[in-house]
Amino acid sequence: MVKPRFELDPLGEKEAFHSRLGVWFERDGQSHPWRDTTDPWAILVSEIMLQQTTVAAVRAGKRFERFLAQFPTIQVIAEAPEEDLLKAWEGLGYYNRVRNLQKTAIAVLATWGGQFPRRADDLQSLPGVGPYTAGAIASFAFDVPAPIVDGNVARVFARLFDDESEVDSTEGRKQLWQWAHQLLDHEKPRVYNSALMETGQVFCRPRNPDCLSCPIASFCRTSHPEDLPRKKAKRKVEAVNEHALVAVRQGKILLAQEEGSRRKGFYRLPLRSKEEVADLELLGTSKYAITRYSVTLALYRASFLPLESGKDGEDWYPLSELNDLPMPSPVRRALESVL
Ligand code: ADE
Repeated sequence: MVKPRFELDPLGEKEAFHSRLGVWFERDGQSHPWRDTTDPWAILVSEIMLQQTTVAAVRAGKRFERFLAQFPTIQVIAEAPEEDLLKAWEGLGYYNRVRNLQKTAIAVLATWGGQFPRRADDLQSLPGVGPYTAGAIASFAFDVPAPIVDGNVARVFARLFDDESEVDSTEGRKQLWQWAHQLLDHEKPRVYNSALMETGQVFCRPRNPDCLSCPIASFCRTSHPEDLPRKKAKRKVEAVNEHALVAVRQGKILLAQEEGSRRKGFYRLPLRSKEEVADLELLGTSKYAITRYSVTLALYRASFLPLESGKDGEDWYPLSELNDLPMPSPVRRALESVL
């Protein structure tokens, strides 16, 4: 790993820092559909979508464009039934995000007369809008100077200042937001924030950082970028086994409605204990990851079940309607592979 020498202090030479980022970004910055708009609703949608879904996945599936085509304004999403929201978000995961988008839209209508506020402080008072999202809307939609710290910016700052603190600790976060405030570009906040984030994505990568091409390498103090940022030790991934029934009778399939807040409104296959499926034919297994669980989902043939059977919350649904029911994508994929 070759890295240019540290020569300039970003806090002491702010104008040069902004200028290196701005010149690079205006020439070479990537074009994204959410960068072609200054509609705060569209910006909010993109930021929420990109929170736990990669740029590549959002771009490849045209998920941003499709979502906005279905919910072009806060008025439209405010009145949409939950089932439509979940269906539109299918495959993106973390479904509370789309429920929160609706809550935010309703609050903008109720509290702000349908106009998003321009200031990050006001934006942050909206449900579902944290400090990062508030800064992103203020700067990307309204070109208002407001700090943003996401994972990319945190990595850039930790390396820039050669900071060993854990970026996900209270102290670490406080330090990052303080730098973000201090380094704000009051002339070109939209370009600066986009450039800073993209520097993290393109050059200041978690592994194999490309310091030789980085526009702000001469401001960067660290000599060991690959070891930064430091983070708190992760909780271990836990292995879980799920045993699900594939019960099909007379063109109908037995499904259960999800409970709990995260996946409320979703349908899934009925789950049974290991003992209950002991004598059933195994159709196949698949693996998926959710939060800190690594799940092995085993599907069992259970077509002998009489139509009146099924536990609480379980019911028979026509197979022809399967595609219209919101369903977590790992479950849908597993089911499609055996049907
Ligand atoms: N990730 C999160 N927000 C983004 C944005 N506005 N542009 C590119 N990547 C992002």
